[in-house]
Amino acid sequence: MEIEKGQVALVTGASRGLGVEIARQLAQRGLDLVLAARSAAALDAVAADLRAASGRQVRTVATDLADLGALEALAEAAGPIDILVNNAGIEGAQAYDERSAAEIAQTIAVNLTGPMLLTRMVLPGMLTRGRGHIVNIASVAGLVAVPFNEPYSATKFGLVGFTRALRMTAQASGWPVSASAVCPGFIDGAGMFEALKQEFGVPAEGMGSAPLDQIGQAVVDAIEQDLPDVIVAQGDLRQAAAISILQPLAVEAASVGSPAAAMFQAVAAARRAVAERNHAG
Ligand SMILES: NC(=O)c1ccc[n+]([C@@H]2O[C@H](COP(=O)([O-])OP(=O)(O)OC[C@H]3O[C@@H](n4cnc5c(N)ncnc54)[C@H](OP(=O)(O)O)[C@@H]3O)[C@@H](O)[C@H]2O)c1
Repeated sequence: MEIEKGQVALVTGASRGLGVEIARQLAQRGLDLVLAARSAAALDAVAADLRAASGRQVRTVATDLADLGALEALAEAAGPIDILVNNAGIEGAQAYDERSAAEIAQTIAVNLTGPMLLTRMVLPGMLTRGRGHIVNIASVAGLVAVPFNEPYSATKFGLVGFTRALRMTAQASGWPVSASAVCPGFIDGAGMFEALKQEFGVPAEGMGSAPLDQIGQAVVDAIEQDLPDVIVAQGDLRQAAAISILQPLAVEAASVGSPAAAMFQAVAAARRAVAERNHAG
């Protein structure tokens, strides 16, 4: 779909991290925005900055994407939209046998159920108006599984599968609407990987990380070129994604011994230590 001035994009998870950068690049392209996340004050601050920098209309809707009623209220408040960027997501590197049922359910709700339901809610309007594109921010972890991240990997594989199926339905049905999955590896400068670096001091080297500005460009490319998947990563990560289906054992062995696996294992151990301290205290 061609991006044109005055179109409206709804970006979830825009209170911090990658969502802010995606919103910034879409506003720069002349789009008006609706920003959603739970943190109302942070959303309003982002919106004020974007309005000042771009002169575009930027509205905010404080929303918990894990709540069906809140999703319905968001779709209603957003009004007609041309582009939906399902960006909000949560990670949680942790050993699977130490996870709570509530945390697993929350990851599925935010990372997969929310995007699927929001897409269902905005799709009829897009079809009626004759244009629309849905961008799901998945992950390389949705193409190549990562250890200590079962709920995250499962939801991101789900999001990639959802996107691919929806594209095919759109093509088979002749819809004027399409969808793309953007799959970042590790992004430097803002977002959850940057937060892990700050909080746990995990090393950034050898991770094939990419700079923040590539994420907004990937979203724009996905929409304008109608791409199925866009991988935002460098080096081995890209290759692992490509060969993981044909050579699963080789990729599994390389992934278990990778810097990313060591990083997630270290984060899981650090979180276990924090939980044990809290429990003891
Ligand atoms: N950063 C990376 O290196 C990287 C790599 C691969 C994939 N990704 C994907 O990129 C997307 C953005 O991640 P990020 O790095 O920007 O993470 P982040 O900095 O942690 O930001 C996550 C965003 O999601 C929102 N969010 C979380 N739970 C929510 C809920 N229940 N309801 C509504 N909003 C919620 C947060 O806002 P509130 O807390 O205010 O609700 C925040 O705006 C995610 O889907 C992530 O999986 C990131």
